[in-house]
Amino acid sequence: MNKKILILGFNGSPHKDGVVAKLLKSALQGARRAGAQVELIHLYDMHIERESGIYSKDPKKANVKNLPKDDFRVLVPRIIKADGLIFATPNYWANMSAVMKGLVERLTVLENDGFRLRGKIAAFIAASKENEGGLEMAAMSMVSALGQMGVLILPNGIMWHPGGKWTTLNHKAHESKSWAQEDAPLVGRNMVALAELLKDNPIKW
Ligand SMILES: Cc1cc2nc3c(=O)[nH]c(=O)nc-3n(C[C@H](O)[C@H](O)[C@H](O)COP(=O)(O)O)c2cc1C
Repeated sequence: MNKKILILGFNGSPHKDGVVAKLLKSALQGARRAGAQVELIHLYDMHIERESGIYSKDPKKANVKNLPKDDFRVLVPRIIKADGLIFATPNYWANMSAVMKGLVERLTVLENDGFRLRGKIAAFIAASKENEGGLEMAAMSMVSALGQMGVLILPNGIMWHPGGKWTTLNHKAHESKSWAQEDAPLVGRNMVALAELLKDNPIKW
């Protein structure tokens, strides 16, 4: 029997019940229903220091034993233990939020210290209820960094909301479902299914 699968969800929005958090919770609920242990991490509640740039000066010093005393240090063991990671950001100027970017920059240390994220399953959510443009870029800004760090991107695991159905700022339009709303719980479920498969059949990446 599989050990319990652990899925972490990072909310890069200041709102705990905004559109980003709702989609993230829906994905995590899908994972929980599939039997996983899930943790929702509101990044705005955490004190995560800015990337110091130590990697650029002396890469050998950018390792997990040499972390500043902030909340990232607390997160690292959970991230290393996790089987799946879901990164959810509001679309801020066609990019991830600064808080999410702060996390991504700090994750560099895990890449530099033996590609510790390699093979972890990842999914991505970018959302703007106003749909003023740039959702794909916001999502892909996370994907390009995490992809380089070696995560395994889940099929259909790059979601943006609302997406193409929304062509105006008419709030009524938000009543119909976006692909992201439909996919989020399935993505959570599929992440667990893949994580279980990988636990039983570990791959030497
Ligand atoms: C600083 C800032 C920049 C934003 N830039 C964009 C943008 O480029 N495109 C867009 O569609 N929405 C943009 N928005 C709108 C947010 O993405 C939108 O309100 C989103 O739904 C917030 O998510 P939340 O409710 O989960 O916090 C921006 C909002 C802020 C505060």
